[in-house]
Amino acid sequence: MIMKLNALQAGFNLDHIVLESPYPNNLARFYKEIIMMEFVKKNKNEFICEGKNRKIILKKGKKNTFSYAGFSCRSKKNLDQFKNFILSNNVKLSEFENNHFKRGSFSIIDPDENIISFGIRKKNKNLYKYNLCMPLQHLTLSSKNVEKFQSFYCDLLGFKITDKVVHKNGSLATCFLTSNHEHHTIACFKSDKVGIDHHSYEVGKWENIKILCDHFSKKNVKIIWGPGRHGPGNNLFIFIEDLDKNWLEFSAELEIIHDRKFKEWPHSEKTLNLWGRGILRS
Ligand SMILES: [Fe+2]
Repeated sequence: MIMKLNALQAGFNLDHIVLESPYPNNLARFYKEIIMMEFVKKNKNEFICEGKNRKIILKKGKKNTFSYAGFSCRSKKNLDQFKNFILSNNVKLSEFENNHFKRGSFSIIDPDENIISFGIRKKNKNLYKYNLCMPLQHLTLSSKNVEKFQSFYCDLLGFKITDKVVHKNGSLATCFLTSNHEHHTIACFKSDKVGIDHHSYEVGKWENIKILCDHFSKKNVKIIWGPGRHGPGNNLFIFIEDLDKNWLEFSAELEIIHDRKFKEWPHSEKTLNLWGRGILRS
């Protein structure tokens, strides 16, 4: 019998995100200095920026453009059984090869033509000195059709829906899904723009948000949204922009999910920020 595991059962973490930029070398410097990526290496046309449990790859291209992302799981066995699951749902594998994973990774193309890879993290021998723990945690995309996004990621890949934000007419404004115990590892906002909305690092506790705010202040990087608390996920957050105006979130106290049913939230400012100003995307 062929063993199958959906994305949640296989247990995936967001491993890396690849962004395009007209000036990837300048952006790499920003990630090194401001996001404390201690190791930056150039490999062909890519700048690979790495900190402990966080990796952002920058390559030459169009500003604010999502290239691809990778989700990793712990074992080859889980990865292979997840592959069985998606193949049994007739999800097509892409020919794209992601060389930021060990051999045996595979990629899919979602309904908005985003490339998402699944694989096993390559071991690296870097010794990280910076001790604030802030792993790359979630990727939020934007789409004209969140319903399609939701059914692809939930029904075909087996991510679990944890919360939905719903317009007055019943259509979806946002969907949050997870592939592990954290509230969401991927989400999608309805928008006229298709691509990336933001990516997020989880810093664990409130105290670390304060440390980061002071760090950004020293570097003259403004907080563009927050501190606040999201409704879905109940996490504390701040947002900054990088040099290309990509949005970066730093989150703390993100809800841990113990098998609860998803909740529906109204599309309102308060859902996006229980404490104050919300930025509605649609
Ligand atoms: Fe977020």
